[in-house]
Amino acid sequence: MRTLVLGGTRFLSRQIARQARDRGHEVVCAARGLSGEPPPGVELVRVDRSEDGGLAPLEGTFDLVIDVARHPSVLRRAVAELAGRAGHWTFVSSCSVYSDTGEANQALHEPLPADADENDPENYGPAKVACERIAGDGALLVRAGLIVGPEDQSDRFTYWVDRLARGGPVLAPGSPDELVQLVDVRDLAAWTIEAAEKGLAGPYDAISMPFSRGDLLAEIAEGLEVRPELIWAGQDFLLAHKVEPWMGPRSLPLWLPLPEYAGFMTRDTSATLVAGLRIRPVADTARDTLAWQRASGHTVSRSGLTAAEESELVRMFEAEGHGSLR
Ligand SMILES: NC(=O)c1ccc[n+]([C@@H]2O[C@H](COP(=O)([O-])OP(=O)(O)OC[C@H]3O[C@@H](n4cnc5c(N)ncnc54)[C@H](OP(=O)(O)O)[C@@H]3O)[C@@H](O)[C@H]2O)c1
Repeated sequence: MRTLVLGGTRFLSRQIARQARDRGHEVVCAARGLSGEPPPGVELVRVDRSEDGGLAPLEGTFDLVIDVARHPSVLRRAVAELAGRAGHWTFVSSCSVYSDTGEANQALHEPLPADADENDPENYGPAKVACERIAGDGALLVRAGLIVGPEDQSDRFTYWVDRLARGGPVLAPGSPDELVQLVDVRDLAAWTIEAAEKGLAGPYDAISMPFSRGDLLAEIAEGLEVRPELIWAGQDFLLAHKVEPWMGPRSLPLWLPLPEYAGFMTRDTSATLVAGLRIRPVADTARDTLAWQRASGHTVSRSGLTAAEESELVRMFEAEGHGSLR
């Protein structure tokens, strides 16, 4: 089977290329090569998809095409330039296609208009909806949620691995029974390839079933073999002290304000699990993420609190008389 990965030089698309290779596919990755190297044993064809004709260096036909594009113009070009040479298409989309974060329903954003700014992060969800339309009815649409594990540069999950490994009192966001969802990059890649091989079509939410943030931290602790001292700070305290939700500087990752985001990590993904998505224990992901972090020298810098910010917040939390929540 000849498989074209449009991408392949970082995180998910590199993992897809690696696992397709291991399943015996002849893998061609098409990218500029700016983000990194593709895995060993696959061909890299250097292309720049930002211009018409950018895929001209690609030769031959492909049984499977797997694309992680974010911009409709880029996907539109790929569909046109590979017309007649591509078998089954997989488009890696996102749960950000859903327009209402307040509850887990099926309503989608309007597709991004052709004249809108594709680079504006605010347009990410609508752009993915437009991409899904361009990919068409016969395509497999992999609506990924939070992707975690080794090689993740976003530091959303890795913050918690790094933080629990460091020890000391840990400021934990919200309440332990609030729900989270995530998927290990290796599980997502494995299912994406298997589903493409089977010729699956249509949209699938590709993520675990929801589970509690308390269980998330407990499972990370289990994987790292540590016993953290968690201090649960409710969202009123976090918002009052300008802690950012989800990701970025001065944030507590995987925390989202409620009720505005009550639907963001509470999607019922049982249909995808029935269709073969296997979710490994979070403890395994945590252990492997720490091993990758240590082996690669990756420093958590994109998301989370610094040690000084966290100590100061813990001090204020206790000074305000919340100590009993510890
Ligand atoms: N991370 C998450 O939690 C999350 C959640 C939901 C959905 N998703 C989706 O999951 C996918 C993640 O993909 P990923 O991990 O492989 O990361 P990515 O950052 O989307 O990778 C983009 C790939 O495209 C290549 N590329 C970028 N610009 C290019 C250009 N002008 N010409 C040719 N190639 C170009 C990059 O390689 P070069 O730079 O080397 O060219 C890279 O290999 C995305 O579709 C994302 O929207 C992610």
